[in-house]
Amino acid sequence: VDTGFWKERWESGQTGFHQDSVNIHLERFWQKAALARGAHLFVPLCGKSVDLLWLLEEGYRVTGVEVSPLAVEQFFEGNNLMARTEKVDGFIRYSVGDDLILWCGDYFELDRLRLGHIDGVYDRASLIALPPEMRGRYAAKLQELAPGATVFLVTLEYEQSQMPGPPFSVGHDEVTTLYSDSCHIEEVYSEEAIGENPRFAARGVDSLVERVYLLKKR
Ligand SMILES: C[S@@+](CC[C@H](N)C(=O)[O-])C[C@H]1O[C@@H](n2cnc3c(N)ncnc32)[C@H](O)[C@@H]1O
Repeated sequence: VDTGFWKERWESGQTGFHQDSVNIHLERFWQKAALARGAHLFVPLCGKSVDLLWLLEEGYRVTGVEVSPLAVEQFFEGNNLMARTEKVDGFIRYSVGDDLILWCGDYFELDRLRLGHIDGVYDRASLIALPPEMRGRYAAKLQELAPGATVFLVTLEYEQSQMPGPPFSVGHDEVTTLYSDSCHIEEVYSEEAIGENPRFAARGVDSLVERVYLLKKR
């Protein structure tokens, strides 16, 4: 699962992870992050998520990173947004005014100084998109890019032997291993969600637990 894998996924239209409506957990629990309007949010591995727009409409400044040029183009075209583009450090930086910026390129190559200060992070289908051997690096990079930020994290948990990822199963123990050095971890919500996810059931998964966490800097 490298960046080539994801670009190919977008090119062949295998984007079953994309949701046409705002993530239900985001709408329901975001206020628990207690971030004031005007705060700067970072959305790693953002795809063309409509959640970016929801956060923008809630009054935040939003910065995402996404490796697939197709995803980024579809995001702006699909939402009738005209973006300014410029090449910066091997990335293409898309901006709409001062409040919406998407960096098209590899998350692991992002420079923290380019990103600016981040108050909050929204991670849905990002950590769990990565295989186990990449998740430590992902979490460490997030700490580097957004030190001190409150992280709103949505995970999936299922029996990994029933289906190869992505998305991968990430359990509570792993969230603790990845983030407890720097963050206080609060599990805000969990639910059995196999009923609403027939594409997992079709692949042989019999139980799928969605969990929502808030990670707050110690
Ligand atoms: C499972 S999708 C989730 C997208 C989005 N978070 C959502 O909820 O729809 C993971 C996304 O991460 C992108 N991605 C994977 N590795 C990346 C990397 N190293 N840098 C930037 N984007 C990456 C993929 O192209 C894909 O769009």
